[in-house]
Amino acid sequence: MLVVIGGTGLNQLPGFSVAREELVVTPYQAAPVAILCGTLADCKTEIAFLPRHGARHSVPPHIINYRANIFALRELGTTAVLAVNAVGGINKNMGPGVIAVPRQIIDYTYGRAHTFFDGQVIALESADKLSASVTHIDFTEPYDAGLRALLVRSAAEQNIAVWPDGVYGATQGPRLETPAEIKRLQRDGCDMVGMTGMPEAALAREAGLPYACMAISVNWGAGLTDDVITMDGIRQILSQGMGNIRAVLLQAAKLYSKAAESAGSGGGV
Ligand code: HPA
Repeated sequence: MLVVIGGTGLNQLPGFSVAREELVVTPYQAAPVAILCGTLADCKTEIAFLPRHGARHSVPPHIINYRANIFALRELGTTAVLAVNAVGGINKNMGPGVIAVPRQIIDYTYGRAHTFFDGQVIALESADKLSASVTHIDFTEPYDAGLRALLVRSAAEQNIAVWPDGVYGATQGPRLETPAEIKRLQRDGCDMVGMTGMPEAALAREAGLPYACMAISVNWGAGLTDDVITMDGIRQILSQGMGNIRAVLLQAAKLYSKAAESAGSGGGV
């Protein structure tokens, strides 16, 4: 099943009709993870939706239980994850409103539970096939190439411009960066900056889930313009961009389910 992880501005997926809510128990938190299953607009294939900040957008980026979320998706039999992340633009291509399908990641986060392979045998025992032995996943291509191509093709078919490239710098938050930090990210080669891209992507790889990201720029990085970054400004850009995000996701869901049907399996790309 294809799963959309929604970020800021996407606590609800417009056009998504919920058929059922799956409450998945995980070894990583007391409360089960609530995943909504249903259909998107006229695409009949079931997809699932997980708002990473919670249904009321109340869980900040550094508190999100990324392990519980990814574990729950794996339990649900997920075959593809499309993550939507709001970012600040650093590269000149990444002005507010621009959507990118990033290719690379630099992780600046700290203190987050960032791996399933942490030697905690008790947790791992209940987490069936996740190995308790020392494991180093390959992360040369942090995003799944097939799902990146699916997003880029879906956008093209909807005449929606996306930048099919870019380096996502993941910062700890919840505060925004200083201009000096943005300059450092720029020197490091980051094209965009967000707070939720990691450890989500790495955990998905550890759990064997194909994963790609659609990043929408909602502001210029701090200091790149004279403007102060406000939540109101971010919300406004998000509400303008949401139509495009939704259209790309809908097309991706259609193409994915068509490919899955012809492959006769759950895997669509
Ligand atoms: N920095 C970090 N995360 C973000 C930003 C930003 O400027 N905008 C949206 N998410």
